[in-house]
Amino acid sequence: MKVGFVGWRGMVGSVLMGRMLEENDFVGISPVFFTTSNVGGKAPEVGVEVPVLQDAYDLDALANLDAIISCQGGSYTNKVFGDLRAKGWEGYWIDAASSLRMSDDAIIVLDPVNDQVVKDGIKNGTKNFIGGNCTVSLMLMAIGGLFNEGLVEWVSSMTYQAASGAGANNMRELIRQMGEINAAVADDLENPSTAILDIDRKVADAMRNDLTTDNFGAPLAGSLLPYIDTQLENGQSREEWKAEAETNKILASETPVPIDGICVRIGAMRCHSQALTIKLKKDVPLEEIERILADANDWVKVVPNDRDASLEELTPTKVTGTLSVPVGRLRKLSMGPEYITAFTVGDQLLWGAAEPLRRMLNILRS
Ligand code: HSE
Repeated sequence: MKVGFVGWRGMVGSVLMGRMLEENDFVGISPVFFTTSNVGGKAPEVGVEVPVLQDAYDLDALANLDAIISCQGGSYTNKVFGDLRAKGWEGYWIDAASSLRMSDDAIIVLDPVNDQVVKDGIKNGTKNFIGGNCTVSLMLMAIGGLFNEGLVEWVSSMTYQAASGAGANNMRELIRQMGEINAAVADDLENPSTAILDIDRKVADAMRNDLTTDNFGAPLAGSLLPYIDTQLENGQSREEWKAEAETNKILASETPVPIDGICVRIGAMRCHSQALTIKLKKDVPLEEIERILADANDWVKVVPNDRDASLEELTPTKVTGTLSVPVGRLRKLSMGPEYITAFTVGDQLLWGAAEPLRRMLNILRS
């Protein structure tokens, strides 16, 4: 299988490369690496023979491949994909960008949750397999079991999204902002007799006036941003709109499940967290809910709803850089026995972006 890689040097692409090397995914395929800036340059070492870097806009070179994985972003997809198909290319297009996600001829891939949808799609000739929105994929990794049992009437998801979802430069900017806040009061912190309200005033002043905001467009460190992505006419942000649209597409739901909430950017590096309110179709005992959640896939982990376990297991700090998707704070809400709450955390670059793509390639190879 000849597999082209585009955008392998960026943040999601680098995570993908790292995971593929860890799992020996390059063995048994013929990888071809593409570039938009360094044609003829040396390709990365991946343990198998690879040609020099090819031009990512060369449709003839792309058309030679059995599959292409793109982490290059939506504008690349928009520029190249249509022309490549118009040339008659019938290979598999696997993409991290959202451009093709909602197309009728694309499947959103998250095989621990929608393995059957993916396999049926391959059988029926689907050629476009697109990674889902990170928040949606992470929510489904956590509570997919309840959807697959047909137990969910609706979900409200309140998110706590990490800087990485906005991009590599935003991660840098978050840390820079943290440093700028610290610098504004570093001397005062050393002096135990400085009044805390003086420190607070200086911090607020720095946050309002002095932080670097080139990427976020607003101060995030020490604060939060209650709007992610663009504004839609109905009052939702695009990120909020994706929850219901993509979840039901991933699951190929016959009757769409309503999913809505508010998406918020917080000062975490690369783990998205979500507080979920779930209305079940019936009263199911909590122990059974926990069992259904835990049995759904190999990565979800039910965390007991106690303080110590929650603080130990259910934080971005614990989860970052791992494939584990803990879900905890599970309990029935006072609204009634069908109402439960849950809190989940997941690495936005792994299950939220790179991991479903490498797994998709392996499904195609098997
Ligand atoms: N849109 C997401 C975010 C990341 O801004 O966090 C991409 O899925």
